[in-house]
Amino acid sequence: MQPEESDAPPPYERIGGDAKVRELVERFYDLMDFEPAYQQLRRVHGSSLESAREKLYLFLSGWLGGPPLYMERYGHPMLRARHLPFAIGTEERDQWMACMVQAMEEVELPQELREPLSQAFFKTADWMRNR
Ligand code: HEM
Repeated sequence: MQPEESDAPPPYERIGGDAKVRELVERFYDLMDFEPAYQQLRRVHGSSLESAREKLYLFLSGWLGGPPLYMERYGHPMLRARHLPFAIGTEERDQWMACMVQAMEEVELPQELREPLSQAFFKTADWMRNR
C-alpha cells in the first residue's frame, strides 16, 4: 500500500528527496538499536542492521514516489513473503510504527505529511503480521 497518489508532487519530493529518505532510515534504525522501548523489535533483527538499513532506504525511495531503487536491484519486493521468516505480531507491528513515527518527528518531516504517511505505513506494517 503506497501513500495516496494525487496531482501534488510525491512525498519523496516534498520531504526533500534522497538525502532525507536516507536520514529518516538512519534515524529509524538508530532508534531501534538504542531505545529500550523498541527492544522486542530489535530482537527480531539479526546482530547487524546494515542490510536492513540499506534495503529499507532503497525500498522507501520508490514507495515515497521517487526512483524505484529497490525494484531496480532486487525486483518486486514481495514484502510479506520476505517477512515470513520473522515472527511479527501486534507488538512488533506497534513498535515498528512507534519507531517510525518517532523517526519522522526527529528528522522533522513536514508536519502535514506525517499523518498520511503514518496511515500508509500502518497499512503496510499491519499486512506484515504473520502470527
Ligand atoms: C511490522 C513490523 C516489521 C518488522 C518486525 C520487520 C522486520 C524486518 C526484518 C527482521 C527484516 C530483515 C532485515 C535484514 O535483512 O537483516 C526486514 C526486512 C525488510 N523490511 Fe521489514 N519489518 C517490519 C515492517 C516493515 C515495513 C512496514 C516495511 C515497509 C514500509 C518494511 C520493509 C522492509 C524491507 C524493504 C526489507 C528488506 C527485504 C529484503 O530485501 O530482504 N518492513 N524487516
